[in-house]
Amino acid sequence: MYTLDPGLSAPCEMLVRTFVKRDTLIFQMMTHGSEYTQRNRTDRPIRSLTAIDLFCGSGAVTSGLKEAGFRVLAAVDVDDVACQTYRMNHPEVKLLHGDIADLDPAVLKKCVMGELDLLAICAPCQPFSTQNRKRFGSDERAQLLLMTIPIIETLLPRAIFVENVPGLGKTEVLPNFKSALQRLGYTPNDPVVINAVDLGVPQRRKRTIMFACRDGSVAPVDFAKLSRGKSTSVRDWISDLPPPPIGRPPSCVDPLHIARKHAPITLERLKHVPKNGGRRSDIPEALQLKCHRGLDRGEFPDTYGRLAWDEPAPTITTGCTDLTRGRFAHPEEDRAITAREAACLQTFNRDYRFAGNLQQIATQIGNAVPPLMMKALADPIATALGAAREPMHTE
Ligand SMILES: C[S@@+](CC[C@H](N)C(=O)[O-])C[C@H]1O[C@@H](n2cnc3c(N)ncnc32)[C@H](O)[C@@H]1O
Repeated sequence: MYTLDPGLSAPCEMLVRTFVKRDTLIFQMMTHGSEYTQRNRTDRPIRSLTAIDLFCGSGAVTSGLKEAGFRVLAAVDVDDVACQTYRMNHPEVKLLHGDIADLDPAVLKKCVMGELDLLAICAPCQPFSTQNRKRFGSDERAQLLLMTIPIIETLLPRAIFVENVPGLGKTEVLPNFKSALQRLGYTPNDPVVINAVDLGVPQRRKRTIMFACRDGSVAPVDFAKLSRGKSTSVRDWISDLPPPPIGRPPSCVDPLHIARKHAPITLERLKHVPKNGGRRSDIPEALQLKCHRGLDRGEFPDTYGRLAWDEPAPTITTGCTDLTRGRFAHPEEDRAITAREAACLQTFNRDYRFAGNLQQIATQIGNAVPPLMMKALADPIATALGAAREPMHTE
């Protein structure tokens, strides 16, 4: 079965029917979208730049694209909870909820009037991550990037943006993807590794970025030359948040800003970790987790470590509210950071809403491309796409 938003228009209802595959409804679709135009400096109407967000998760890429002036027409993700989050924050976008492997590209094509400007593809990074011991050989998700080729072939967007962990560049997936793009008439750039901290994000987060444009009609974008944003720190982004309530308060102002209720032994451990830093090895051996006893100082060094007020955070991962998963203790309070603090360090707006339980929310936050990073990358893309396009001849 599928559910439809009350605001779904008749043409979109027809689209929903096209999701039927082998007598099974695979996708759900939501929309509140309406056409609109912008005006350029000479007050001539110009069509908004358009984008589609594949593997949209909670919608961080969509947020950054919207901030850069793109109109996001559609988005795709398989995860129920991430789709709920996406819908709450981007109700105007047509959300296709389902497995990309089952998506008929013609369905996406119907979401686009005319030419699509940008296809953003942020496929799961776990298969390429250095932390993934399974590695990409046995992880089926490694093929998801290549599964977007039929979509590209159908949509023929003017440009394609790919974001992933640097490990992607070390696999055969990326060259295979680039070759497929070239066969379709695209000119892919050499992937470049960008650190989010260089784009004004209060977090060290290295990501591989690839951009491809069709038929050389759009100027290549040199992301390596992006100007270094003002450097920001943990203090700039979370120090003004009020102290969070602990545990499960019956009511609270922000359901994301609730501190975990730590066990007495965890609080005892944290007392030994110096403010603004510290590491697991600062905890006396007798108090260490059993699995950490006898380990060298260099093993799991960040576990139980605190963030430092005046430095960027380490990479915010899906374990970002768990002291045993990395340097995720508050700089001075004896607790793990809250989901809201993690979301702020990922540069989500303070009023961004998330569906799910704490672990599901942390997963969405850790998976996200920081919206501010996405905006910084999308700005020059918008400039290149806008410069290569004629104003719309209507009105
Ligand atoms: C790295 S996250 C993307 C994060 C998102 N771009 C953002 O900025 O918030 C990868 C996403 O791919 C989705 N995903 C994984 N396998 C998928 C599939 N087979 N079809 C569609 N989406 C999938 C996951 O649910 C996850 O939300």
